[in-house]
Amino acid sequence: MAHILIVDDEPEVLVLFREILEIQSHSVEEAVNVAQATDRLADGAFDLVVCDVGLRGESGLALVRRVAEDLPDTAIIMVTAADDPALAEEALGMGACGYLVKPCRPNDLVISVSAGLRMRDLEHARRSHLDELESKVLHRTVALHDAVQRLEESTETAGIALRETADRLVTALTLRSDETGGHIQRMSRYGAHLALASGFDTWSEDEIRVGMMLHDVGKIGVPDAILLKPGALTGEEHGIIQRHPLLGAKLLGEGQSPILALGAQIALSHHERWDGDGYPSRLAGESIPIVGRIAAIVDVFDALTSDRVYRPALPTERACEIMTSERARHFDPDLLDLFMKSIDDMLVIREAHPDLAPPPPPTGGMFAGRRADGVARHLTARETAVLRLMTEGLSNQSIAATLDLRLNTVRNHVQRTLNKLDAHSKLEAVATARRRGLLPPG
Ligand SMILES: [Fe+2]
Ligand SMILES: [Fe+2]
Repeated sequence: MAHILIVDDEPEVLVLFREILEIQSHSVEEAVNVAQATDRLADGAFDLVVCDVGLRGESGLALVRRVAEDLPDTAIIMVTAADDPALAEEALGMGACGYLVKPCRPNDLVISVSAGLRMRDLEHARRSHLDELESKVLHRTVALHDAVQRLEESTETAGIALRETADRLVTALTLRSDETGGHIQRMSRYGAHLALASGFDTWSEDEIRVGMMLHDVGKIGVPDAILLKPGALTGEEHGIIQRHPLLGAKLLGEGQSPILALGAQIALSHHERWDGDGYPSRLAGESIPIVGRIAAIVDVFDALTSDRVYRPALPTERACEIMTSERARHFDPDLLDLFMKSIDDMLVIREAHPDLAPPPPPTGGMFAGRRADGVARHLTARETAVLRLMTEGLSNQSIAATLDLRLNTVRNHVQRTLNKLDAHSKLEAVATARRRGLLPPG
């Protein structure tokens, strides 16, 4: 049941619409012009407004604009005496979610109203999801700022403090990244090793390692929905991801410490290419800072030789072949040659810093998906049974009775199932499980 405002200056239309909507159990209020409608809307919240365009006095379109701008939780459907596609387009462009031509059949009104309410609910859910993402980003940004702050303080006491801070940093970064802690550890060590081998001595090995760790820190500003999207990205989504070097440089550039400045330089330049075809600045050759050229090599090497959700790790020889074909294209030729010469050292680093192995699936369990750090999550047999009962819309109490379990145990199973499926409600968990093929389609 929804609370609906009908705005029309023809009394017989008001009576007819009220009757139709009340049969559908909606509660209805009326207004005969825009001014009266505005007063009603100021007095109470409405789920939906059905508004005639051709009102005497101010046009109904003005009301559409006002509702769309000021009342995002109220849907609006336009009604007009003449079928005018241009007018319909204008109303829809302003934010109306439906358009009816008078005289309309009762069913047309009922269908438009229920479609309008459905759109309103979806829009509401979309906005809450965005709010939630924003608050997650905020939370993680605070964690990152904490780590960066410690980093600034620790530059005064080099050595152990710097190493400890680096480890804290990895934890903060992997809270918000599609890459694992293992990747950051390996990539930063490969980078520090290559830098030293190239005779680069502006920074110590530990400092370069910390700077390298920060290469993807700008991904904190990329929404999860894009960063962790399992399918192909749209052009627009690629554009958003490609902002991460600039975001990272901006975030780190605000700090005081020289290491943060080094991190900012690496963040900004790790996606540039030797041939000038990279981003964000399309720098070429030696105009790319050497730390950026080093980061490009070691980042790609580790990506190719690590398992991804969509493919297993490539053998080292194959990864080296691919990278060599990009010599003087993607990569600085001299640095790449040096990297290839040091490949045995790199393999020692890789051995020492493996990714955490995903746990084997428990007997009777189902693969539910992967965490952001790539670790697989499985539903236990009991969680699977609980998930199946969720599809029937059972309360926790009924699930407990059906499975002969205590209510608290069921609550725990439900919560763990939601966590493993990244769902916020039972409904979302069931939908996700169906999408992933864990349950037959509903
Ligand atoms: Fe990156
Ligand atoms: Fe990376």
